[in-house]
Amino acid sequence: MASIEPVDRFLDQNGARFVEELKEFLRIPSVSANPAHKPDMERAAEFVRSQLEQAGASAQIIKTPGYPIVFGETEGSDNGLTALVYGHYDVQPPDPLDEWKSPPFEPTVRDGYVYARGATDDKGQLFTHIKALEAWNKTVGRPPINVKFVIEGEEEVGSNNLDNFLSDHKDLVKCDVAVISDTSQYAPGVPAITYGLRGILACEVVLQGPNRDLHSGIFGGSVANPCNMLARLVAKLHDDKQRVQIPGFYDDVLPLTAKEKQEFAKLPFDEAAFLADLGAPAACGEEGFTTIERRWARPTCDVNGMFGGYSGPGPKTIVPARATAKITCRLVPNQQPEKLLAAIQKFFVANCPPGVRLEFKSQHGATGIVMDAQSPYMQAARKAVADAFGAQPVMIREGGSIPVVTTFRDVLGVDTLLLGWGLNSDNLHSPNERFTLADFHRGTRASAHLWSELAEKH
Ligand code: BES
Ligand code: MN
Ligand code: MN
Repeated sequence: MASIEPVDRFLDQNGARFVEELKEFLRIPSVSANPAHKPDMERAAEFVRSQLEQAGASAQIIKTPGYPIVFGETEGSDNGLTALVYGHYDVQPPDPLDEWKSPPFEPTVRDGYVYARGATDDKGQLFTHIKALEAWNKTVGRPPINVKFVIEGEEEVGSNNLDNFLSDHKDLVKCDVAVISDTSQYAPGVPAITYGLRGILACEVVLQGPNRDLHSGIFGGSVANPCNMLARLVAKLHDDKQRVQIPGFYDDVLPLTAKEKQEFAKLPFDEAAFLADLGAPAACGEEGFTTIERRWARPTCDVNGMFGGYSGPGPKTIVPARATAKITCRLVPNQQPEKLLAAIQKFFVANCPPGVRLEFKSQHGATGIVMDAQSPYMQAARKAVADAFGAQPVMIREGGSIPVVTTFRDVLGVDTLLLGWGLNSDNLHSPNERFTLADFHRGTRASAHLWSELAEKH
């Protein structure tokens, strides 16, 4: 077994260069939601490809009907094990722009953080695995196991072409375990391995009233106001105990085991500090569950945005023609997105207020997942993370969604190691997204150590 010392030394000696290269990556505004950024998406894919090549991997760009997928691989030294790293080079839109202290695509280092859209979600995190591979290839000559990469550009818009790519290229992506760094540590100084994620379903409901905005003095009170009616409809989604009222919504929910409840309760959690950080006056959620349980293991139904009518400055007197609500539900394991989409549509149709026409659009869905937290691969990951972060990782679930984790299990038959180097306070999806440079370096070291720990498990 090759010694890891030269690898560690290489990481120490090249850390400053890695940060400069990451900044180059972060300068590319690869916003998948906005078609105007198509050329930037292609540049970002090419950047990842060339970085993989520089790291000593063979790498190619594979076209899809949407944005390209970058595939890379390096053969390991006499070890049959293969790990597949997944990440995404696309980022969320940077809006609201005027809330950024430095421009979102001009990465800036302040107080030990690099600030930029994509710094933690997911460019900075995925980059750690490319640099760890570079360290192995440029010192020892090979990593101890085979390492493959699938880096896509459509994660933030539902990964619409990824499942087909994986099922069409089963041999190419064949592996023993998947690795994703696109989650968070539990807290600063408390690294974590995530063994469960929530699923998601997304839909939109439009209430159409009159065929145009009307004078509310001349017509108000005589036809239905879609904004008023949408508020009534949305209010029916929850009762006073914050239980979702869609019939059948909780039918398939797997209850938390007593053991898991205990494990969650053992984690350090300061609710007052949590609320103070968010600026929220009180905790609020499904009655009978703790804040951690609500976030990680209970389903939700959230309106992401409601709009209609006039929202410019000053007053305007109209009955708007239509109103829209964008809705997502977070799902827990065993809940089926297709089944719940049908249930939600039925609920809206049954509760549609009088005088408006209802239009329902379903968008995307993914199931939640819980994995075996004790597998040998998890043990290897625990050791690698502890080595690099200087603290034992805690085992957690998370409330966010990474749909490909379920696909890896269903299509490739493998579990995923969710090794998050970020923090929930990194402002992912918000203005002033950032990544702690120390975590970037620790993450790179953990990745390098993971390859050798996994080799020992073989
Ligand atoms: N990296 C996040 C998911 C995440 C973040 C999980 C932090 C756990 C902790 C990912 O990029 C993301 O934003 N996912 C979307 C999924 C959706 C677009 C299908 C989400 O969770 O909203
Ligand atoms: Mn992400
Ligand atoms: Mn994201």
